[in-house]
Amino acid sequence: MASRVGITNGTSSPLNSSRFLSPSKNSSFQTQNGSNSNSASLMTQNKTVLVTGGAGYIGSHTVLQLLLGGFKTVIVDNLDNSSEVAVRRVKELAAEFGKNLNFHKVDLRDKAALEQIFSSTKFDAVIHFAGMKAVGESVQKPLLYYNNNLIGTITLLEVMAAHGCKKLVFSSSATVYGWPKEVPCTEEFPLSAANPYGRTKLTIEEICRDVNRADPDWKIMLLRYFNPVGAHPSGYIGEDPHGIPNNLMPFIQQVAVGRRPALTVFGNDYKTVDGTGVRDYIHVVDLADGHIAALRKLEEADIGCDVYNLGTGKGTSVLEMVRAFEKASGKKIPLVKAGRRPGDAEIVYASTKKAERELKWKAKYGIDEMCRDQWNWASKNPYGYGSPDSTN
Ligand code: UD1
Repeated sequence: MASRVGITNGTSSPLNSSRFLSPSKNSSFQTQNGSNSNSASLMTQNKTVLVTGGAGYIGSHTVLQLLLGGFKTVIVDNLDNSSEVAVRRVKELAAEFGKNLNFHKVDLRDKAALEQIFSSTKFDAVIHFAGMKAVGESVQKPLLYYNNNLIGTITLLEVMAAHGCKKLVFSSSATVYGWPKEVPCTEEFPLSAANPYGRTKLTIEEICRDVNRADPDWKIMLLRYFNPVGAHPSGYIGEDPHGIPNNLMPFIQQVAVGRRPALTVFGNDYKTVDGTGVRDYIHVVDLADGHIAALRKLEEADIGCDVYNLGTGKGTSVLEMVRAFEKASGKKIPLVKAGRRPGDAEIVYASTKKAERELKWKAKYGIDEMCRDQWNWASKNPYGYGSPDSTN
């Protein structure tokens, strides 16, 4: 059932600034060690990476950084919560590196289709994003989440093993810390799952540890993301959730462009700076770069199944985030106060020491840049990748 979809450059391109066309012209395209993508490409020549879920929010930003870093990249995505337009735009943003991108519309549970892709291409590593991620929906439809996320991952690991590809970067989440008793969260904190979505992340982490224990040839990086926000500075790719957004920033964005009347603030009696919940927001381009750093780490000899937090190490309250967004956009965000959202933690932010030390990676952007780029994306694409009729 694998359908290889050709990618054309046929859309009207909002690439109105040449600074987004060449990786070496923009500091955000620089790799962590400060070299530009052209020199990076010398290091990564001929490396081919499979990215599952590469058409999604974090996936598309990571694919762009991979291409600009000189990797050949193949996306597998079922487009369940993502758009092929994102793939086309990534290809355009990557300019001359865009030729190194291929896309297959395939569901990971379709083992025959996956086998076919692995038979035709030798992959050096896989970055695995594909999965469902709406907490509320996972509570309503647990079997859907277990089927998608767990069966999809197991099928992927089986096919990887059968083809001798045993290097994996997995997209985990700070959700595995549950309600942390203290902050910052270090990688050694006890783990728990508060809902079926979280349980799939935790279970996949455990599966990865077992797989590595059984066969130490496997090298696996588990990356625990904190709260990814923002968009590529071009405003050409960004987050485009289907339906009513669950997360804070997409909701604020939809209020700012007039799609929703007000932001509901969940809880005002937390023991925080202003009573609202505190989180560790991280710019999605920083997060994408964290994956390149993790891929490089996989090249080292003594890697087993290792885990890293990807966050900034800084906590920001809901109201602080709203104010930063208002400043960046010049828009007033009307607020409605409500009680705490069930299941919400009070304060969550990361210890980033391990990633800084071992991955040589550190987030560069603060909340002002996150809001600037979120607004740039929102104002240029008020309805995301779709039309007003296709979303609500
Ligand atoms: C949520 C999920 C978490 C998931 C993460 C993905 C829950 C309970 N947790 O985390 O499992 O890994 O998204 O990014 O759903 N807020 C509002 N109004 C809104 C939306 C959010 O006030 O309309 C507040 C929340 O109460 C919270 C903060 O904004 O204090 C951030 O919320 P959100 O973006 O949903 O992220 P998390 O709660 O950290």
